[in-house]
Amino acid sequence: MITPHPSLRGRSVLSLRNHDPAGIAALLESAADLKADRNWPPLLAGRVIALIFEKPSTRTRVSFESGIARLGGDSLVLSGRDMQMGRGETVEDTAKVLSRMVDAIVIRTGPHATITELDRAADVPVINALTYEHHPCQALADAQTLAERFGDLVGLPVAYVGDGNNVCTSLMIIAGLTGIDLTCGCPAGYEPDAEVMAWADAAARALGGRVDGTREPGEAVRGARAVYTDTWVSMGDEETAEARRSALGPFRVDDALLAEAAGDAVVLHCLPAHYGDEVTHGVLHGPRSAVWDQAENRMHAQAALLAHVLGDDPGS
Ligand code: CP
Ligand code: NVA
Repeated sequence: MITPHPSLRGRSVLSLRNHDPAGIAALLESAADLKADRNWPPLLAGRVIALIFEKPSTRTRVSFESGIARLGGDSLVLSGRDMQMGRGETVEDTAKVLSRMVDAIVIRTGPHATITELDRAADVPVINALTYEHHPCQALADAQTLAERFGDLVGLPVAYVGDGNNVCTSLMIIAGLTGIDLTCGCPAGYEPDAEVMAWADAAARALGGRVDGTREPGEAVRGARAVYTDTWVSMGDEETAEARRSALGPFRVDDALLAEAAGDAVVLHCLPAHYGDEVTHGVLHGPRSAVWDQAENRMHAQAALLAHVLGDDPGS
């Protein structure tokens, strides 16, 4: 049984920054329990969840749909193109209408400002399935994957190399909430958000970790027990693809860069991968790769998230 944590029950999850370490720890424990249990309890029976996708998705969509079904709930997948929002209906009105019909709204959209606007107008919890700035659901599965490989996350040396994008931002935040020792190796012009990094560093230090950055890929990876990368060209960055490839070239995760990491280091990638850009096929499909577990864990982490957000209050 999952007892919803007070820092998650009934709450929206837009960036994880407003959630506390105890809530994240409880969620990760629930995700591991669900993974170990073949017979999931019907925690979402009678619940209907709208899944809005304004950008393509494979993992996020399927993991939400599958996880909700396995917990006895129902989901409605809505493509942004097919909604009146695509023809100009406001985000505010969409939020108000959906709130009368569903129990939660999961949305993948462009600017983070869109999801905060939706959340302000909605009367039901809103979950971020990726914005240009954040990808919190990915970070939950990332932390679950690291915990199942290494146990305690406090002080675990992890390197993120490449573009300081939404995946990097959410990884910094979860490092802050779990005490991971994260080094972001990103070139000039592609560094992660400095304000988020400062917040994550302070939060991580309070738990025994730290979050910082370097422009040297080898320095970022040295001694790391997990090496994480993501695409150099996120959805919305297509116009600057060539400049990105040339700036980010030295940050490719290949056998030579991986040799700098700890002997037992694993490779993480949120996927989809772009072979020959941010990672080689050999590394992603090699013995160090944890990416298939990481992808699978999207389902467990998000099911646990929904169980905590929508679960019944045991006291009521
Ligand atoms: N990692 C991730 O979010 O993948 P999708 O874009 O396929 O959902
Ligand atoms: N940074 C990537 C992640 C895709 C899952 C993007 O935003 O396109």
